[in-house]
Amino acid sequence: MTVLVVGSVNADVTVRASRIPAPGETVLGEEARVSPGGKGANQAVAAALAGISVSLCGAVGQDSFREVALSGLTHAGVNLSHLHDLGAPTGLALITVSPDGENAITVASGANAHVLPAHLPADLRGFTHLLLQNELPPEVTREAARRAHNAGLTVLHNAAPAREPGPELLARTHHLIVNEHELAVFLGGADGQDVEAQARTLLARGPQAITVTLGSRGSLTVTEENTYRLPAYPVTPVDTTGAGDTFCGVLVAWLASGQALPEALHAAGVAAALACTRPGAQDAMPNRAEIEEYLHPGR
Ligand code: RIB
Repeated sequence: MTVLVVGSVNADVTVRASRIPAPGETVLGEEARVSPGGKGANQAVAAALAGISVSLCGAVGQDSFREVALSGLTHAGVNLSHLHDLGAPTGLALITVSPDGENAITVASGANAHVLPAHLPADLRGFTHLLLQNELPPEVTREAARRAHNAGLTVLHNAAPAREPGPELLARTHHLIVNEHELAVFLGGADGQDVEAQARTLLARGPQAITVTLGSRGSLTVTEENTYRLPAYPVTPVDTTGAGDTFCGVLVAWLASGQALPEALHAAGVAAALACTRPGAQDAMPNRAEIEEYLHPGR
């Protein structure tokens, strides 16, 4: 079972500070940490560490951030034969992390913004699942979903950062993963309304499953027949960067290895919680053995 991730690759420059600066404010922080990131790369790494075969289609530049941006992918054994070298800087994310582990992120997209539908793999044979996010141009995400859907792949779309998927993409997405904020944006409503009702509204637009990640409250997933509410695995967060990506990568890994949806959601939730207990995105992700140990202690 092989997963194709079509998504962004970044280097993350992270500073821990006493708080996330307000507009116009300067806050002094600790030493900057440079580590591999990007929602696409993060999800590819999470899935590969969870034990499945993963390919990433995306782009980097030829600059000094390239090496760190690719380091986690290489370490995790992600296939990079669909990675492109483009004449633009490698994507760079500027991240501030507050003492409670929350973050604010600004992304300089660089090469990610130059990916074209022509860069997508021509042949999808051998892939069973496609995993998408919203850090590449929308036409690339849409075309990847169209081709994958036509080729019979299962399409998972993590619609982050928030960007309205549109009817065409929704109709080709089997499983949509959003947080509460993204869900509210898509439905034009305010945060805090009944999440299950909102998720069911989105379900009616095409996907077979909608998962809403709820941070420290776990996750909620709706399908036509069922609702799954999974509590969060209790941890003290150090850095939540990449927790959502860990969730998505492990979810697709468990599904691609033939596990049922409730088991996959459980593993994804545990992995995302573990990823919050260490600094960084890819650097913080658990591998399959660690996830299994928390799912089945002492087995
Ligand atoms: O989801 C976290 C990621 O968002 C970071 O690694 C950063 O690169 C941005 O893409």
